[in-house]
Amino acid sequence: MCGIVGYIGKKCDLKKDLINDLKTLEYRGYDSSGIAIYDGNMKIVKTKGKIENLEASLKNVDIANSQLGIAHTRWATHGEANDINSHPHRVGCVTLVHNGIIENYVELKEKLIKKGYHFVSDTDTEVITALLDDIKKSEEDNVKAINKMTLELEGSYALGIIFDDDYDHLYAIRKDSPLIVGICNGCNLIASDVTAIIEHTKKYMLINDYEIVKLSKDKVEIFDRNLKNVKKDILEVSWDINQAKKNGFSHFMLKEIHDEPTVLKDTISEYIKDVNTLINKMPDLSKYNKIHIVACGSAMHAGLVGKSVIEEYANIPVTVELASEYRYKKNFYDKKTLVIFISQSGETADTIAALRNVKKDKIDTLAIVNVVGSTIAREADRVLYIRAGVEIAVATTKAYMLQVAMLILIALNIAYVNKSMNEEEVSKVLKEFKKIPKFVNEIILREKECFEIAKEISSQEDVFFLGRGVDYALSMEGSLKLKEISYIHSEAYPAGELKHGTISLIEDGTVVIGIMSKDKLAPKLLSNVKETLARGAKILIIMTEDLDMDFDFDCHKFVINKVNDILQPILIVVPLQLIAFEVARQRGCDIDKPRNLAKSVTVE
Ligand code: F6R
Repeated sequence: MCGIVGYIGKKCDLKKDLINDLKTLEYRGYDSSGIAIYDGNMKIVKTKGKIENLEASLKNVDIANSQLGIAHTRWATHGEANDINSHPHRVGCVTLVHNGIIENYVELKEKLIKKGYHFVSDTDTEVITALLDDIKKSEEDNVKAINKMTLELEGSYALGIIFDDDYDHLYAIRKDSPLIVGICNGCNLIASDVTAIIEHTKKYMLINDYEIVKLSKDKVEIFDRNLKNVKKDILEVSWDINQAKKNGFSHFMLKEIHDEPTVLKDTISEYIKDVNTLINKMPDLSKYNKIHIVACGSAMHAGLVGKSVIEEYANIPVTVELASEYRYKKNFYDKKTLVIFISQSGETADTIAALRNVKKDKIDTLAIVNVVGSTIAREADRVLYIRAGVEIAVATTKAYMLQVAMLILIALNIAYVNKSMNEEEVSKVLKEFKKIPKFVNEIILREKECFEIAKEISSQEDVFFLGRGVDYALSMEGSLKLKEISYIHSEAYPAGELKHGTISLIEDGTVVIGIMSKDKLAPKLLSNVKETLARGAKILIIMTEDLDMDFDFDCHKFVINKVNDILQPILIVVPLQLIAFEVARQRGCDIDKPRNLAKSVTVE
C-alpha cells in the first residue's frame, strides 16, 4: 500500500535521501511515486511506475539546498496509476501525501466544487488537500486547521503536510493508517514504517489515531484531539539495517527463506526449554472452550494449520475466518471464547477492524504479530510476537512459518493445561522441536531439487495442489505462494472434493501437486492423485519419508524427514516456498514486488 516519508532539517541532498527512503518503502507495493521539496519554491515531481522513473524525471529539475520535503509511493485506489493521480497533491496553500481511503470524498468534492474548487485528478487525496486549503481560509493555526479537517473526514488516512505559510514545520496526522516519527540529530522525519527511517536513526515514536504531529528540525510536538500536548515514549528499532538488505542473495524472498532456521530457533528457544518454561512463557488460555482465528491471506492459512493442531491436540473447537468477512458478519462468541488475530504487519485494515469489533463486545483477544508496536499488537489484550525480523518480500515466508510455529506452541500449551496431553508427551514434542530449525536448514539446502521440480511447472497455465487435513491447509499456502509471485493460476483442493466438479479442469499435462504427511490419509490422497493421473495430469508429490506407498507411476517426489505430526507442517512449507520461488525466477517475474500487490494492506 502507499508509503509516505517526510523530512525537516539539515540534509545535504534531500532529493537523494527522499528517493532512497522511498526505495525502502517499495516493498509495501506501489504503482507510482512522487516528491515535493521546498527550496524557496515548491518543486513537485510525480511519475507513474517505478521509482527509477521518478529519479529520471528529477534529473531535469534543479533543486537547491533544502530542509523540507515529502515523498510518496502510491498504490492506486481512486483513479488509475498515472502521473496526475500520483501524490503529492497541491491545492492553494497546502501540499500533501496520503496513505488510506477517504470514504466520503464524493460529498466533500461536491461541496468544494460549489465553493469554486477545480479538481485535476480522480483521487480522494486531492479532495483532502482542497478541504484543508478551504479550512485554512478561516483558520490561521495549522494544528487547529488539521484538527478541524478530521471532523469532516470519514475513512483512513496518514498524511504528511506542508503549508505555504510555515516552511519551518512539517505536519502529519493519522487515523487507521500507520505513521511514525523518526528522531535524528538536526532533523526529524515522518514515515509509514521504520524501514524508511532506519538509514537515518533507530529512534522513533508511534503516533496514535487523531494525533497531530508538528515537526521542526530540532523539535517534535504532538497534540491530541483536544489540542493538548502529548508526551511520547521514544522507542528504539531492535533490528539492524542489514536485515533490510539482500546480503548477497538475488532476492529478498530467497534471503528470507534462508533466514528461517535462525529466526525459528531464536523465537521458539524462549518457549521450548521444558514444559514449565512453555507454560510460564505462554499466556494462560485455560479458561477458553472455543477459539476463533481471524486473519487475511497467508496469515489466515497459518490459522488453518493452527485450527488443525489445536483441535487435534488440545481438543478445543476452532473456527478460522477471513477478517474481511468476520468484520461484517454475525459472530457467535462468549466469555469463554478467545479470538486470535494473526498479522505479520499488524497493520492490515480488515484485521484491525475485526479486532476492534470483538473488543467492543468485550471478548478476549490475543494477537500473533511480527511488527513490534504495530496497531494490532497494541490494541489486542495480549500479544505474542513471532520475531521474524523485517520481512521485505511482498510474499511472506519466514513470518508465515513463525505464525505456524507459534500456533503449535499455543496448541501444546492448551493441550497440557487441559490435560489432553500429559507432561511426558509434551516434553517429547518440545525435545523434537529443538531439532526442527536444523531440518528446515537441510531442506533449504535442497534448492536444486526444487529447481528441477519448478521446471515442470514454469510453463504451465494451471496448477492444482491437493491435500487432506492439515496438508490441505498447507496446500492453500503453497498455491497462494505460487500464484502471487509466478502469475500461474493455481488452486488448492481438499483431495476428496476434486471429483465433485473441479476434476473437469484436469487435462493432458495439467500439473497436480499432492501433499502427503499423514500415514492415515496418504493412501486416500494417492487414490485422488491417481484419479487425476488417469485424466492426463503430471504429478508431483511432497511427502514424508515414513510413508510406505506403492507409486506405480512416474513422478517427481520431494521427500521430507518424518517428525512428530504436530511439528510436520513447519517442514512441509519449505519446499512449497522454494518451488514457488524457483518457478517465478524461471518465468522472470518480479518476485519481491509482484504486480498489484502490497506488503501491508492498510485499506479495506
Ligand atoms: C501472501 C501475503 C499476504 C498476507 C496478508 C495479511 O504472501 O503475504 O496474503 O499474509 O496480506 O498480511 P498481514 O499478515 O500483514 O496481516
